[in-house]
Amino acid sequence: MPKGLSPVNQFSERVIDWYQEHGRKDLPWQQNPTPYRVWVSEIMLQQTQVSTVIPYYQRFMERFPDVASLAAAELDEVLHHWSGLGYYARARNLHKAAVAIVEQHRGAFPEDIEQVMALPGIGRSTAGAVLSFSKGQAHPILDGNVKRVLARCFAVSGWPGKSDVLKRLWALTEELTPDRNIQAYNQAMMDLGAGVCTRRNPRCQHCPLQTICQARAEGDPHRYPGSKPKKILPVKSVFMLLITDEEGAVLLEQRPASGIWGGLWSFPECSTEDEIAAWCRHKLGEKSDDWMLWEPRRHSFSHYHLEITPVHIVLNNSTSCVMDAATGVWYNSQQSDNRGLAAPVRRLLDELNQYYEGESA
Ligand code: ADE
Ligand code: SF4
Repeated sequence: MPKGLSPVNQFSERVIDWYQEHGRKDLPWQQNPTPYRVWVSEIMLQQTQVSTVIPYYQRFMERFPDVASLAAAELDEVLHHWSGLGYYARARNLHKAAVAIVEQHRGAFPEDIEQVMALPGIGRSTAGAVLSFSKGQAHPILDGNVKRVLARCFAVSGWPGKSDVLKRLWALTEELTPDRNIQAYNQAMMDLGAGVCTRRNPRCQHCPLQTICQARAEGDPHRYPGSKPKKILPVKSVFMLLITDEEGAVLLEQRPASGIWGGLWSFPECSTEDEIAAWCRHKLGEKSDDWMLWEPRRHSFSHYHLEITPVHIVLNNSTSCVMDAATGVWYNSQQSDNRGLAAPVRRLLDELNQYYEGESA
């Protein structure tokens, strides 16, 4: 196939054409783009948005205009210029790398990508960005924005933190990156990810890739890139005792101030069926073994899932309730009440209400 018509070529042509009209060309680090200036910008931009970075970048460049001034500075002063940007390891590495450039490269920023990648805090994508923007070297980049655009356009599923997914994305960016116009192409890919193919709100109608994008063709760009697998959380099981009297009032207890649902009102809890029987004997008297187990339901916390099995216990006339009034209240959900209730408790109270309404209907 003639090169001009190959799909790979089409991709970069579309991206570059889009850049000429819509890409960013007036960012501070695009003026006089020396390796040093681009490097500092790329490090600042790693975890921080362009609009936040700009004033920091300008102050930083005024104080540390070149590698020599940065290497000669005290780390404390570098950190001071960073304060507010966060992720301070970036500033420590920047300073360490400046010292390394002075000691190992006589103060001249290296132009060989392997040497750039050997500096502290610079990975393959950042090295590619620095050398492409400052020297026009045709290196591929793969930051978070580029990963998202490529994962969507080529329907690469899976989480990019996984090595096989990352490998596929690197192979794609290598294949698609053109030899010419590298600055426009790399900047355009970043700008597309930052402004068009955004994580939450891809604006496909404005995207130069809309006619070749596989995620768009499938109809759901949000499927890509895959998200980080959730940790498998342990499951704890508990019985919640829904104890109702003849009027439909239900017994609630206040939880201890610390721990989950601290200070909120909830049902008495047991961990085994034997414990339920014992609890009923002690607190409610003999004739209270009239239980109904409801379907279990799950409530998730950040560190575990709680499997709740509600146990509906209906007290009758003859039950001699010896509940200690200090630990519990008879809650009548018809009357509104400002007690703090955890969400699953509130839902169970609603279900109880429906249960009684259904019965009386
Ligand atoms: N994020 C990382 N590098 C960038 C750049 N050169 N322009 C805009 N956003 C970026
Ligand atoms: Fe992203 Fe939509 Fe463009 Fe595909 S068409 S790359 S999903 S903005």
